[in-house]
Order: sequence, then structure tokens, then C-alpha cells
Amino acid sequence: MQVTQANHLPGRFITIEGIEGVGKSTNVNFVAEYFRASGATVISTREPGGTEIAERIRELILMTPSDGLSDLGELLLMFAARAEHLAGLIRPALARGDTVVCDRFTDATFAYQGGGRGLNLEVISALRDIVQGALRPDLTLLLDAPTEVSVERIVGREWLDRFEQERADFFGRVRQAYLTIAAQEPERVRIIDASKPLQEVQLQISNALRHKFEKTL
Ligand code: TMP
Repeated sequence: MQVTQANHLPGRFITIEGIEGVGKSTNVNFVAEYFRASGATVISTREPGGTEIAERIRELILMTPSDGLSDLGELLLMFAARAEHLAGLIRPALARGDTVVCDRFTDATFAYQGGGRGLNLEVISALRDIVQGALRPDLTLLLDAPTEVSVERIVGREWLDRFEQERADFFGRVRQAYLTIAAQEPERVRIIDASKPLQEVQLQISNALRHKFEKTL
């Protein structure tokens, strides 16, 4: 079985990360529109999910309460969904030269399953290499804000998914893990201060996109 693939596919691969409540969905749309306006064909997608089977895995993960799925099972399901997403949508799109804008990717696994759940980072790296080979995002926008935004967003909701049921300290560890990745890979990961008003956040995002892609836009 061939598991390694070069990262030299012609398309652009941009991922958006951050804890819940930082405005990812709005800004995924903003990034997609930014590239569409320059004439690119843009695929906007999300993880876990993005293909029929991966969306079914998403539902399975999010609908299962904490006592119904082990941390290791959760990790493996995230990568199962990712394998399907890469094979069915992301790699073909990048091979065609499209721009793929993805709401979360493997940094979320390092942040949630590594930082949040405390799973071994070497195990996560090994799974990443099996599932992705050399494929990595060209640019990752980390929307960073204090953990209160996550907690505030879900107050008063009747139904909470598997992750929304977690406490503030879980999101604190997730946030820290994201910031650690950004410190380790400053070329790929740009921190966006998502606690600012939307217009300012989007100014930071356009600057990051221009800086990274100015030669190809
Ligand atoms: P979303 O609600 O932002 O679309 O993401 C679904 C949840 O899945 C969110 O709480 C983060 C979590 N998640 C992980 O724990 N690990 C992962 O690898 C991914 C992609 C998401």
C-alpha cells in the first residue's frame, strides 16, 4: 500500500483552526471568498467530515457521549474520517489545482486528542504520517481567543456534543496545544487575534493570505 504522497500538488491548501466559538465558520467563508474573488476554484470543507462517509464518522463521534467511546477510539475515528476526506475530496481537488479551504485538520487532532485528552503526541505524529504522507497545509490560520469564548457560546444550550460537554480546563489545554504548534511552525501557522472585532480579524487574515500567496494571486 502506498501511504506517502508528495506535498507538491498544484493547488493551495489552507486550514482554519481554533477552539469553539472563535468565529471559524464566518472566516472560512471569508477566506473562500478571498480566493474566489481572484478567480480561483475554491473547495470549502470541514473536518471531521467533507465526504459522505467522513460525515457519518463525524456524526458518530459527536453524538457519542464521553463514556461511549474511548480516547483512542476517538483518535482513530478522526484519522479514519481524514483518510476518506483526503482520498475522496482534498487530494483530487489539489491535484486539479483548486484551492481547498478546510475548517480544521490535523492540528485539531494534536490540540484536542493530544492537548485536551493527553494522548501521546508521537502516536498522533505516526498516524499523521500514515494517513497524509508528506501532505501538509500550505497555510494554517489559528484563530486564537481566550477560552471564555467557548464556554460563553454554549451556555444555555439544551444539547451539547461530545466536545462541548468538556470543561473550561479542557479548552485551556487545547488552546495551549495550538499555541505550541504555532510556536514550532511559525512559517506555516499564523496566529490571528480572534478576540478583536470581526473587521480587524479579517484584516489580519487578508494580510496573512497576501503575505503567503502574493506571488500566485
Ligand atoms: P466543529 O464543531 O468545529 O466542526 O468540530 C467538531 C469537533 O471535533 C470540535 O469540537 C473539535 C473536534 N475535533 C477533534 O477533536 N479532533 C480533530 O482532529 C478534529 C478535526 C476535530
